[in-house]
Amino acid sequence: MSFSVDPSLVEEDVEFTEEQHDIWRTLVARQAPKVKQYACKEYLAGSELMKLPAERVPSVQWLNERITPRTGWRTVRTKVRYSDAVQWYKHFARREFLITDYVRSREELEFTPEPDMFHDVYGHLPYFTLPEYVEIQEMFAPAFHKAKTDEERENIKRLAWFSTEFGLIREEGELKVFGTGLISSSAEMEHVLAGNTPLLDFKVETIVNYDKAIWSFNKQLFVFDSLAALKQELARYFDSL
Ligand SMILES: [Fe+2]
Repeated sequence: MSFSVDPSLVEEDVEFTEEQHDIWRTLVARQAPKVKQYACKEYLAGSELMKLPAERVPSVQWLNERITPRTGWRTVRTKVRYSDAVQWYKHFARREFLITDYVRSREELEFTPEPDMFHDVYGHLPYFTLPEYVEIQEMFAPAFHKAKTDEERENIKRLAWFSTEFGLIREEGELKVFGTGLISSSAEMEHVLAGNTPLLDFKVETIVNYDKAIWSFNKQLFVFDSLAALKQELARYFDSL
């Protein structure tokens, strides 16, 4: 299926200011040791392939040279701060991942409710070098376009939120961070790993009862055993639509 996208949402790559490069540098330096310790092995493998620069924000071209040959995905710059799901999944169906063009302020280094460029690039993009990861992302757009009701579409957004954005994974008996919203937020990552967030098994029937917490830390999060287990659970629901 091919979808036409709204061209006004997409923009040419932007030049970041020295101040923005400096915030990027600060964020990478703070987050790298925590990520090394707490992120799941898939994120670390993607990060090893990607080798994001620590000093300056990479360009879209730089990013795509590392992503597209590996998985066929590419990243596209947008000026929209919180993309609406319809546009978002149209781009997904074209294997395009939208990244924003703004960076959080110095006051928001540990947590920002809006997905800024650090979240998009540092949190999400290393995963897009991994075929086993994009297989999961590629399940969402067809499900979203197949859904017949607002409730089903909302459920799909919840499942994305509690897996790719905020999911946790059990790795040889240890709890690791999978979701990019945790990988890019040192405050919420530490809050969760210190045991402050109730953790439930990743089951569709449970997740559909919980709302996404955009403006605060999540009140509960969900854990799965492996990427294969996550994929199987998502497929169980998506196939039923
Ligand atoms: Fe995200």
